[in-house]
Amino acid sequence: MKTQKAIVTGGAGFIGSHLVDALVKRGIEVLVLDDLSSGSLENLEQAKAEAGTRFQFKEIELCSDELSDVVGAFAPDTIFHLAAQMNVRRSVEDPAEDARTNIEGTVRLLEAARLAGTHRVLFSSTGGAIYGEQESFPATEEHPTSPKSPYGLSKRAGELYLDYYGRDHGMRTVALRLGNVYGPRQNPKGEAGVVAIFATRLLNKETLRINGDGRQTRDFVYVSDVAEAFLKFLDSDHGTGFTAYNIGCGGEISVLDIVDALREAAKELKILPQDTIPDILPGGENDLSTEFGPALAGEQLRSVISPEKIKSELNWSAKVNLRQGLERTLRSFLEQGVRAK
Ligand SMILES: NC(=O)c1ccc[n+]([C@@H]2O[C@H](COP(=O)([O-])OP(=O)(O)OC[C@H]3O[C@@H](n4cnc5c(N)ncnc54)[C@H](O)[C@@H]3O)[C@@H](O)[C@H]2O)c1
Repeated sequence: MKTQKAIVTGGAGFIGSHLVDALVKRGIEVLVLDDLSSGSLENLEQAKAEAGTRFQFKEIELCSDELSDVVGAFAPDTIFHLAAQMNVRRSVEDPAEDARTNIEGTVRLLEAARLAGTHRVLFSSTGGAIYGEQESFPATEEHPTSPKSPYGLSKRAGELYLDYYGRDHGMRTVALRLGNVYGPRQNPKGEAGVVAIFATRLLNKETLRINGDGRQTRDFVYVSDVAEAFLKFLDSDHGTGFTAYNIGCGGEISVLDIVDALREAAKELKILPQDTIPDILPGGENDLSTEFGPALAGEQLRSVISPEKIKSELNWSAKVNLRQGLERTLRSFLEQGVRAK
């Protein structure tokens, strides 16, 4: 079944807005549902201008009683569910609130989808927090799931509900277990977007604060590649039932590597005069510009995921390498004049 009408929850956020842009480009009618708790309407300006009446936005909270009626009235054939509480530290401080948005919100959406006759639901899960401290590297989708944080647990619970709806209600449900996504529009005020935070501080010539020793690793993936992965499920008929896919590059990159690569990208782009680029690696001439703080609660030491399954089944693989991705990110932050603190 071809997708013609899609709902994107969390479409005013970082990843969601890139996905909305890509859907609009394909001529798909889109309704964005978002409570604007961390997202912003600015992220949707491009889609709105391009799509005209084929684009709608509704400010709504996932657990609102109105949700089912809104989904039913639009009757989408596909729902992309990206709205979430995605701050690991906040999930540790307030697990009930995390569960309310990420578990109850997901269940309410799935139920609304069932009542509306929606066939496909795609869910943004986490490849970084679902496996826990890994036993093997990179983790495939068969790796045991043992989340260290309430955030990882709530994402896993969401997947189990997708599995139930896929099995018992004949829907096609898919979890994309995303690596550490970065790129333009990522909010530097969050705690998860290390690239956005460091890029902003670098452009502001501020000290970079690293949580832990900086040797923790992640699988970094550029946002347009993630949007492309979601698009893989638009047109083909994958039957019913649930499947999880890792979406990453399969490469293990430390926070210190990111700091180094960002500095190189900034030099390459001549974003800052050479002599004002702080030597931000520890032990460098000016290592005062890097600060190390305590590791975050619930944070994993090493995370890297295998993208082989989606590559072999759907021919998706990341196209943007780290260097290109960081350059594009820095350039876009510079163009927007991002100076958020
Ligand atoms: N950014 C990453 O590296 C990453 C990694 C793995 C998974 N994910 C997942 O991808 C999704 C999108 O993440 P993002 O980085 O774009 O974050 P984001 O905060 O930019 O986007 C989330 C969006 O959801 C909205 N939202 C939050 N709670 C809501 C609620 N209760 N009702 C309605 N709207 C609500 C926010 O306003 C925001 O627009 C999330 O599900 C996140 O868990 C992100």
